[in-house]
Amino acid sequence: MEEEKAFRNYEAPDVSVAVKEHYRKMRTNQTLEYVQNMHKKYLKFDKPMDLWEAMRHLNKLIDVSDPDLDLPNIQHLIQSAEGLRADNRPDWMQLTGLIHDLGKIMYMWGSDEDGTSQAEQWGLVGDVFIVGCKLPDSCVYPEFNALNEDMANPEYNTTLGIYEKGCGIDNVDLAWGHDEYLYQVLNNHKENKLPEEAMVMIRYHSFYPWHTGGSYTELLNEKDAEYLEIIRDFNKYDLYTKSPKLYDLDEVLDYYKPIAEKYLGTGPIYW
Ligand SMILES: [Fe+2]
Ligand SMILES: [Fe+2]
Repeated sequence: MEEEKAFRNYEAPDVSVAVKEHYRKMRTNQTLEYVQNMHKKYLKFDKPMDLWEAMRHLNKLIDVSDPDLDLPNIQHLIQSAEGLRADNRPDWMQLTGLIHDLGKIMYMWGSDEDGTSQAEQWGLVGDVFIVGCKLPDSCVYPEFNALNEDMANPEYNTTLGIYEKGCGIDNVDLAWGHDEYLYQVLNNHKENKLPEEAMVMIRYHSFYPWHTGGSYTELLNEKDAEYLEIIRDFNKYDLYTKSPKLYDLDEVLDYYKPIAEKYLGTGPIYW
C-alpha cells in the first residue's frame, strides 16, 4: 500500500485535463432543480437486473473523475472487497465494498444531457456536495463554485440555504450520482437486509466536503457524528486498496455469492 498522501491529489501535474473538466461541468450543472429532476427521472425502480449481471456491466466503465484509477470500475470494487476481507472485517462490510459503486450502472440508461452517460459522467461520479445551500471552499476546484447558477440565488446561496439548522445529512439533497442512486435502489429492494451502517457507507462515501473537508457544520446533527465514524472507517478501503492487480469476478464469486444472498436475497434488483 502506498502512502496516504499519494492519493486524491488534484493539483498533481499528471492529473488529466478530463478530471478538471469533469468537475467544471459537475459544479456548473448540478443545481437543486437538476437534482430534483434526476430523482423523478431515475428513481422509478422499473428495471429488474441480477446483481452479478450489473457487476459485469461495470467492466465497461472507467470513472473519469478518479485521478488514481484508470481500470474498469469492477476492478476497484473487487479490490475494495478483497481489502476488507483481508482485514477480517464483517461479511456485510465486505459485500458493501464489493457493491458500493454499483450505482454507476446508471450509465446504461443514462444520457449525455443528464451527465449520466459513459461520455458525460458529471451526474454519475465525483465528489458530491449539498444542493440548495452555499457551496463550500472544501469542494475540489472551489474556483468552479461560482459557475453554479444557484450561487447567484439568495434563497440558495447562504450557509443554511433552504434547510433548517441541525437538520442532518439524511434530510438534505446531495448532488446526483451513483451513491444516492444505489442507496435508493437498495432502500426500495424488498430483500435488502444490509445493516444501517452499510447504507450509510453507500450513500455518503463521495461526500468529501463533509466527511473530509469538515464543512456544513451548521446543518449537522448528532447522528451525523456517528455516520462520520462509519464513513471514515469505510473510506480507507475505497481509497487505499487501489492497485494495478487485476481480478476476474468469476475467481471471487464462490466467496461473495453466499454473502450477497444472505443480505440481498436471490431475486433481481429493480433499478
Ligand atoms: Fe463511489
Ligand atoms: Fe469507490
